[in-house]
Amino acid sequence: MITSEEIDAAVDALQRGELVGMPTETVYGLAADARNPVALAKIFATKGRPVDHPVIVHLRDASQMDAWAKDVPPAARVLADQFWPGPLTLILRRLSKVSDLITGSQETVGLRVPAHPVAHELLTRFGGGLAAPSANRFGRISPTTAAHVRAEFGDAVRVVLDGGPSRVGLESTIVDLSSANPRVLRPGSITHRQIEDWIGPLGELENHAIPRVSGALAAHYAPAKRLILVDADAMDATHAGLDRDVLWLGLQALPLGTQGIALGSEPNTYAFGLYAALRELDSGTGGTIAVIAPPNGEAWTAIHDRLRRAASGSGSGPLSTSTRHPLDPEPRSGDG
Ligand code: TXA
Ligand code: MG
Repeated sequence: MITSEEIDAAVDALQRGELVGMPTETVYGLAADARNPVALAKIFATKGRPVDHPVIVHLRDASQMDAWAKDVPPAARVLADQFWPGPLTLILRRLSKVSDLITGSQETVGLRVPAHPVAHELLTRFGGGLAAPSANRFGRISPTTAAHVRAEFGDAVRVVLDGGPSRVGLESTIVDLSSANPRVLRPGSITHRQIEDWIGPLGELENHAIPRVSGALAAHYAPAKRLILVDADAMDATHAGLDRDVLWLGLQALPLGTQGIALGSEPNTYAFGLYAALRELDSGTGGTIAVIAPPNGEAWTAIHDRLRRAASGSGSGPLSTSTRHPLDPEPRSGDG
């Protein structure tokens, strides 16, 4: 699917300080040479992202961890052994040479070894770390295909490697190991319990810690349309009270006579299809997307998190940030 020449062209672009659309198993990233401040500045300009939002550094393998982090605790080695390459980001104490643009001027750095053959090949041939946030404009839905990345940025990002649809479909689980109180900062497909199985009990996320993660802003993963979450029980009653042109996102079934997408009731399949479905519904008719709330349970935690954020940041149109709809729940912490 990807040729050696395409990887070469991407490596050239990175070495020139250009951005590259990089497939990963979670979502597509907008990658830049993590040692080049000019390239890093382009990430923020291109995404429209505030510069105090830290960016994850992607590595070829765990042996590169010590080029970015210091005082790496045993728990980090255990999790890296267990889950890398994979959808897990570790927040560690940074070495002082790591750019403030990567760390958001904090004393920590986020590291991840992605499990995607194209990302692995790119990281291997490039050699160094690649700073990469999700390849969407700030506050918008993360891309899970190369076409999504092109739709976000057009000619502003010339090299986009097409690695097929991202297998996981949700951003990585983020675990903060930079203090004596390990915590999950962002839920993902690797669950809280899976992490605890390897390193013991995790702490709670205190409110004052939230600004360290960009999801403190309400508008994340948000469609331009208003998005509302509807209890499965209240589906038909809600449908009766809404305009006819509402599009629905459901599990197995949609309310009778409505249009939309059903993603099924298996959480991995649902996660895989979620962002593409939200993009498709966002570009369809009507002003509202009604999402039937998935079941509870650990396998759905990350999906609930993203849906809540999508609801709380939705309806503000293509460019503005954060308006919270009165029907929507409290925003919580989590992403950029
Ligand atoms: O799956 C993923 O993590 C994808 C793919 C491309 O790897 N990347 C991604 O990046 O979701 P981004 O920038 O959209 O979200 C990264 C999150 C942000 O909420 C950011 O604030 C947080 O990670 N983060 C990065 N470095 C951090 C640090 N040093 N301390 C706390 N949070 C950090
Ligand atoms: Mg993001």
